[in-house]
Amino acid sequence: MIQDIDSFMHRHEHLTGDAAMDTLHEEFYALLQTLRAASREHAADALLALITHTRDHFAHEDRQMTEGGYPIRDCHIQEHADVLASLVEVHERLCQDDHRALPRLVKALEDWFPGHVQHLDSALAQWLVKRRHHAQPIMLRRHAASTT
Ligand SMILES: [Fe+2]
Ligand SMILES: [Fe+2]
Repeated sequence: MIQDIDSFMHRHEHLTGDAAMDTLHEEFYALLQTLRAASREHAADALLALITHTRDHFAHEDRQMTEGGYPIRDCHIQEHADVLASLVEVHERLCQDDHRALPRLVKALEDWFPGHVQHLDSALAQWLVKRRHHAQPIMLRRHAASTT
């Protein structure tokens, strides 16, 4: 489970090498943490903010994949669609004052996102950087002795 944004995002394996993508991921985490901490009365608004951001986030990546002809885009785009559908479904339940699915959703997102970033998003970022610069991205990282 993700404990806080800094410890997650500053661990090198969760940075993709694409600055715009990394910014979207930091924002996603901030909104997810806000949702996790939200009171019952603010949960629907917090989830709606996450949905709005996630829709833009996924649309940005989907556009890069489809417009650029990214060869392994189908499962990545499908995963985005499935996650977004889950967010919308739980939001509809919250709007009917049914909060039972929310803790499971938050946990599922926290479990799902690191793997998505490490595998699908990082592969996309590598491909984008190669296309833009005809070179592999190089990641320069600080050594954090306290995060071992
Ligand atoms: Fe992403
Ligand atoms: Fe993605």
